[in-house]
Amino acid sequence: GQLEKNGFPHFMLKEIYDQPGCISDCMGGRVNPDAGTVTLSAVSNFKERLAGAHRFIIVGCGTSWHAGLIGKQLIESFCRVPVEVEYASEFRYRNPVISSDDVVIAISQSGETADTLAAVELAKEKGAFIYGICNVVGSSIARATDTGSYIHVGPEIGVASTKAFTGQVMVLALLALLLGKEKGIVSEEEYHQTVAGLVEIPGKMREVLKQDSLIADFSKMFTYARNFIYLGRGYAFPVALEGALKLKEISYIHAEGYPAAEMKHGPIALVDAEMPVVVIAAQSALYDKVLSNIQEIKARKGRVIAVVTRGDTEIKKLADYCIELPDTLECLLPLVASIPLQLLAYHIAVYRGMDVDQPRNLAKSVTVE
Ligand code: G6P
Repeated sequence: GQLEKNGFPHFMLKEIYDQPGCISDCMGGRVNPDAGTVTLSAVSNFKERLAGAHRFIIVGCGTSWHAGLIGKQLIESFCRVPVEVEYASEFRYRNPVISSDDVVIAISQSGETADTLAAVELAKEKGAFIYGICNVVGSSIARATDTGSYIHVGPEIGVASTKAFTGQVMVLALLALLLGKEKGIVSEEEYHQTVAGLVEIPGKMREVLKQDSLIADFSKMFTYARNFIYLGRGYAFPVALEGALKLKEISYIHAEGYPAAEMKHGPIALVDAEMPVVVIAAQSALYDKVLSNIQEIKARKGRVIAVVTRGDTEIKKLADYCIELPDTLECLLPLVASIPLQLLAYHIAVYRGMDVDQPRNLAKSVTVE
């Protein structure tokens, strides 16, 4: 009903706007801003098992798999332990190599996805320790795992996942940071600096949401696009994949996410004056390389929507449209950079007259194969 939508025309838009509050809830009782510390009860209870893992294997489907790709980068950089990310549907039928020194992280908003549940059961049989990251309390996956952390973002109604994605990334960031600290890899200074960065995320999300009407405005230009390319590197690569998935799911426009540097190995052949390219081009060590990707797209008359760091001047000169992000620690970039891409997909779908909360052929939770 209209009531639960809080005045928003769709659940999806409400859930996009819910994110600053949801992310605060997710951090509640876990992040202590005064002390500058993080706790997760699962980590306190299973410290040795988790910090002693030889390897992490993350399994999930859809948006949850994209969160897993960010989790891999977070855990590898904070903990220096190898991480593999697998589609649960592939993992379960692959006779994967798993040992009792492995920790499997199962990510699922609903906690009911059949493939993810089957992957958990398989990993359990092989003796791995299983950590669940779910939203729905008491769900099948939450019950089947050895331990875990709920994302606590509240019920997600829109079929296209939004706030669950940022909640999953937040829990993965907390887990990676905490384990890195536990293992003595993250220094005291980096720890406190990252905690301070986490605490600022809800405020930064609010700043990004202020650009909603700007995004709605230029979204109109793309109502009739047939294809979209999304590019990003490092932490922005899974954000590109997730942005492309949002567009496909609700607007039915074909979209592909690619690592920006791979553009020259294929996607650039598709670029012409009809091709919109969304580039996540926030300040980072690889900024110049992404800038030159944008030059290559413009040289072929592609239309560039760039997501940049506030104060950017170089990319602004080249891009057709720019969305600004507040400056953020690179490892936390996905938490803010995904929001404008959710809004872009939302507005394009609405202009195309699509039912964004109930996209055709899709289900909120896929409990059968
Ligand atoms: C369906 C939903 C997606 C979701 C995926 C995994 O495809 O439409 O939004 O990402 O399932 O769902 P889960 O509940 O396991 O995160």
